[in-house]
Amino acid sequence: MNIDSSILEELKKSDSHVSGEWLAQKFNITRQGLWKHIDKLIRRGYEIIAVPHLGYKLVSVPDKLYPREIQYKLNTKVIGKEIHYYEIIGSTQDCAWQLGLANSDEGALVVSEAQTKGRGRMQRAWISSKGGIYMSLLLRPQFLHLYDASKITLLISLGCVYGIKKATGIDCQLKWPNDIFIEEKKVAGILCEINAETDKINFIVAGIGVNVNTRDLPKEATSLFLHTANKHNRVAIVKAIIEEIENCYKKAKKEGFDEILKEWSQLCFIWKRQIKVRISNRQVTGEAIGIDESGFLLLRKSTGLIEKIPSGDITKMNESRVLRRKKK
Ligand code: BTN
Repeated sequence: MNIDSSILEELKKSDSHVSGEWLAQKFNITRQGLWKHIDKLIRRGYEIIAVPHLGYKLVSVPDKLYPREIQYKLNTKVIGKEIHYYEIIGSTQDCAWQLGLANSDEGALVVSEAQTKGRGRMQRAWISSKGGIYMSLLLRPQFLHLYDASKITLLISLGCVYGIKKATGIDCQLKWPNDIFIEEKKVAGILCEINAETDKINFIVAGIGVNVNTRDLPKEATSLFLHTANKHNRVAIVKAIIEEIENCYKKAKKEGFDEILKEWSQLCFIWKRQIKVRISNRQVTGEAIGIDESGFLLLRKSTGLIEKIPSGDITKMNESRVLRRKKK
């Protein structure tokens, strides 16, 4: 840890003022040297007041996804040990992909305040203005066969729902395969990109986008801010999400995916609805009835036949009966 971070940690530990003399002695620097570090922190957005004879007091931290804020009391062993931070980037996916090629360790995370070329599934753009969370996580799931890679998308989305709940108290729902919704509007999405040879996964880059305090969104989307009319602490959300993803990942590694898929299924809101799914160049319609042990969608067609869909895009969904009743 560098001196700035250590000074900050001391300020965070204390509810009142911390003596400048004590800090200078602790870090073996002069009072002038100490001021230079404090000034650097202030220029990064930390609000620190200096009171003669009392010392320094941390009043507030900036609304930034700084690695040192994410890593402060972070309860993970692997995810987020290495964090690459950007004010703005093309896409965090590309940066994490490069880390994967350069043999970076599993758990490396790329975080950005905004993206100029944020992307989603099916070549769609992902709106990435300031106020959201845009991050990509490098995973090396050696315990997983390429055929089962789509289960990682489900695992990541489950971790996100748990993380959002833990940090904000908000309940989200899941839509197969990678969408996170609040009351029928999309609030977050997952994009998993895989580097593999024959049937072996080298690495997966799991991209996570969450609309947190963002406001200008298309009508079919929402943000945590728009849902609650309150600003939310993005650092707390990132921490909770990566902690929950690590819990799910550890569980899958140890016990397999059965429990993860069961929990995922319980939070998915599309069951018993008539849906239309686009699968490369064809469309199928039917009733969504569940997922199988591989995470494939099970669709009951009008003929009664059940089709297993490994990957696709739900393009249409009828309303749930509960919503239809409410509207009358
Ligand atoms: C989707 O719903 O289609 C997936 C959206 C994924 C967006 C995230 S934001 C962080 C990472 N970087 C990107 O360019 N995309 C993912």
